[in-house]
Amino acid sequence: MPKQVFVLNGPNLNLLGTREPEIYGRDTLDDVRKRAEARAAQLGLAISFRQSNHEGELIDWIQEARSEASGIILNAGAFTHTSVGILDALQASQLPVIEVHLSNIFRRESFRHHSYVSLAAKGVICGLGVQGYEFALDAMAKLVA
Ligand code: DQA
Repeated sequence: MPKQVFVLNGPNLNLLGTREPEIYGRDTLDDVRKRAEARAAQLGLAISFRQSNHEGELIDWIQEARSEASGIILNAGAFTHTSVGILDALQASQLPVIEVHLSNIFRRESFRHHSYVSLAAKGVICGLGVQGYEFALDAMAKLVA
């Protein structure tokens, strides 16, 4: 049985491709999903790729991951910088977590420089666009091996 990894995406990431493309690129979230699925297949991982604009739904999925997944890759969008609830859910999961951001949050406004998610993350990949999801899967394959 391939190991299952949840790839979770937070608010406004459903708008990828049209949302501030100079920051986030022109790939849509569906393009990101296809690239992630292709890389996961090469690595022998199964992924469940999801997006929600709702903090509580993301928390429900992180709780679901406790029994259903071996690791979590998370781009929490703006909730990265605000959500103690998501941090608590990640810490409760006791799963390896890799935080991903398309943009380099450290080159942007100072309110993006702090991440609650990072407190629960094994590693953080930011600023490398869609490729960051592929790198996160490469790293996760080793973490769950
Ligand atoms: C983001 C960075 C966040 O600061 C922002 O709120 C997002 C996207 C990124 O992928 O670069 O929605 O997580």
